[in-house]
Amino acid sequence: MSTELKLNGKVALVTGGGSGIGRASAERLAADGALVVVAGRSEDQLKEVAAGHGNIDYIVADVSDRAQVAALIDGVVKKHGRLDILFNNAGVAKFLPLEQLDGAHYEEQFNINVRGLIDVTQLALPHLKKNGGVILNNASVVGDDPMPNGSVYSATKAAVIALGRSWAKELAPAKIRVNTVSPGPIETPIFGKTGMSEKDLNDMAAGIQASVPLGRFGKPEEIAAVVSFLASDDAAYITGAQYKVDGGMAA
Ligand SMILES: NC(=O)c1ccc[n+]([C@@H]2O[C@H](COP(=O)([O-])OP(=O)(O)OC[C@H]3O[C@@H](n4cnc5c(N)ncnc54)[C@H](OP(=O)(O)O)[C@@H]3O)[C@@H](O)[C@H]2O)c1
Repeated sequence: MSTELKLNGKVALVTGGGSGIGRASAERLAADGALVVVAGRSEDQLKEVAAGHGNIDYIVADVSDRAQVAALIDGVVKKHGRLDILFNNAGVAKFLPLEQLDGAHYEEQFNINVRGLIDVTQLALPHLKKNGGVILNNASVVGDDPMPNGSVYSATKAAVIALGRSWAKELAPAKIRVNTVSPGPIETPIFGKTGMSEKDLNDMAAGIQASVPLGRFGKPEEIAAVVSFLASDDAAYITGAQYKVDGGMAA
């Protein structure tokens, strides 16, 4: 006798699904019954996530390239027939003091974290509208409480929070729910890509940990659980919300 899972029949797209929070979320959505497509730039990582999972597929795409985004959305719908759940998770985090900021630092983060997220959502929208879909955006607690030396990254996440609130109101008549997940510090490869020295990273990690009431970094699976809940009908009356999953950091 087969048991009905809460996301059976749904097709989900997870950007940045090759590692960290995106990977854990893709695996959780799949475990909860969805057919999941993971997207990102590194094919090796995506392949590894899809391997051994009957209901995880992958498409290589850079969200900051609109032509690749168009091909991604087309690919999802051509291969799997529909799109119900979009988790805009792809993101980069770079840290620099104000004196050292330049155009490249700004453009990389805004093009991926904000413009890319807008492009993916805009091009996915006609498909999400067909059955009343779900949009989830991955912001961060720094969107509301910015970090020193992380001003541009924090600004991208403040933008993501604002986009989600606006879209929740705009898309409610189309029966599309839009919610934001704002993780606190989560153990993922992102910290190794910030451009900081190992010593600065270790100092920062110790400082962050001390500011978390639960006294530890979170695990990607702890974000994935909230993503899956918000994607499901259990959250049918939730839209325009921001869920801080941060061990109490923002309390
Ligand atoms: N870890 C934390 O403490 C934390 C806290 C708050 C918020 N977040 C947010 O959570 C999200 C996931 O981060 P993570 O911590 O899981 O880090 P991660 O392991 O580095 O994951 C980021 C993912 O985004 C993908 N990505 C980056 N640029 C991309 C692009 N242009 N096009 C497509 N995919 C792209 C990366 O794959 P490729 O490089 O292969 O493309 C990677 O799979 C990010 O939006 C991050 O800002 C993380």
